[in-house]
Amino acid sequence: MFRLDHKVALVTGGASGIGLAISRMFARQGAYVHILELNVEQAQRAVDEIRAEGGQAEAHAVDIAQQAVVLGAINEIAARQPFHILVNNAGIAHVGKAHTTPEADFDRIVNVNIKGVYNCLYATIPHFLAAGGGVILNMVSIAATVGIPDRFAYSTSKGAVYTMTLSVAKDYLAEGIRCNSISPARVHTPFVDGFLAKNYPGQEKEMFEKLSKTQPIGRMAKPDEIAGLALYLCSDEAAFITGCDYLIDGGFEKLNN
Ligand SMILES: NC(=O)c1ccc[n+]([C@@H]2O[C@H](COP(=O)([O-])OP(=O)(O)OC[C@H]3O[C@@H](n4cnc5c(N)ncnc54)[C@H](O)[C@@H]3O)[C@@H](O)[C@H]2O)c1
Repeated sequence: MFRLDHKVALVTGGASGIGLAISRMFARQGAYVHILELNVEQAQRAVDEIRAEGGQAEAHAVDIAQQAVVLGAINEIAARQPFHILVNNAGIAHVGKAHTTPEADFDRIVNVNIKGVYNCLYATIPHFLAAGGGVILNMVSIAATVGIPDRFAYSTSKGAVYTMTLSVAKDYLAEGIRCNSISPARVHTPFVDGFLAKNYPGQEKEMFEKLSKTQPIGRMAKPDEIAGLALYLCSDEAAFITGCDYLIDGGFEKLNN
């Protein structure tokens, strides 16, 4: 079960954290993985690791915020190799409330976290339509559906991706395209380490403990735990699932009371 043999997957932000875990797990399950990344050196290291484990992968230098670049890369891949799965994983963090988020920061979050996902959908869906179907998985966050302090721009962006998931699932039901999303609470990745180093210098360990305890289960998720759910949702075993957001949050949304 949950094999991806003969499937080709595009994973944005696949060089680090959750995206890296997804890329490695998909490759282990038989998929050919294309990593679309801003950090192409790190993406190439991920590809080398996947190949060393006997998997198949390629790295592509892509800033998802730039539509021409996304179209160029995805059309070039499609011309060589039909693909079946798109994982919109790449995303960036931001700390601030509405009145402390400067315009430039808001624009940057919108351009990567919202427009970047739209760009990948725009480039991919025509190929799925031509092929008669496909699977899309968006990385959302609990920030989309509960109030997280000091995350105005980030939460806004994830709320947009949550809604995009519903819109896409509805629009392409008849064309065999499934679209779902995953909403993790905190996952221990470089995203979290970078956030702690930037915002709590000298207090990283203490803040790590504090953030771990905000999940009722008492810790952060491991990237592989998110990758396992991603694998299921992108596999043929999940053929009956579309238009759903899956919490994977150690009880954060339902048990924090
Ligand atoms: N880590 C968490 O606690 C957590 C929780 C909920 C949701 N998420 C979401 O999961 C996703 C992955 O998070 P992570 O923790 O693995 O992050 P990460 O920072 O470890 O990895 C993100 C990757 O995306 C790439 N990237 C960033 N901007 C890009 C762009 N414009 N074009 C292409 N690639 C780009 C980065 O180079 C990096 O390799 C994000 O969408 C994030 O919002 C993370």
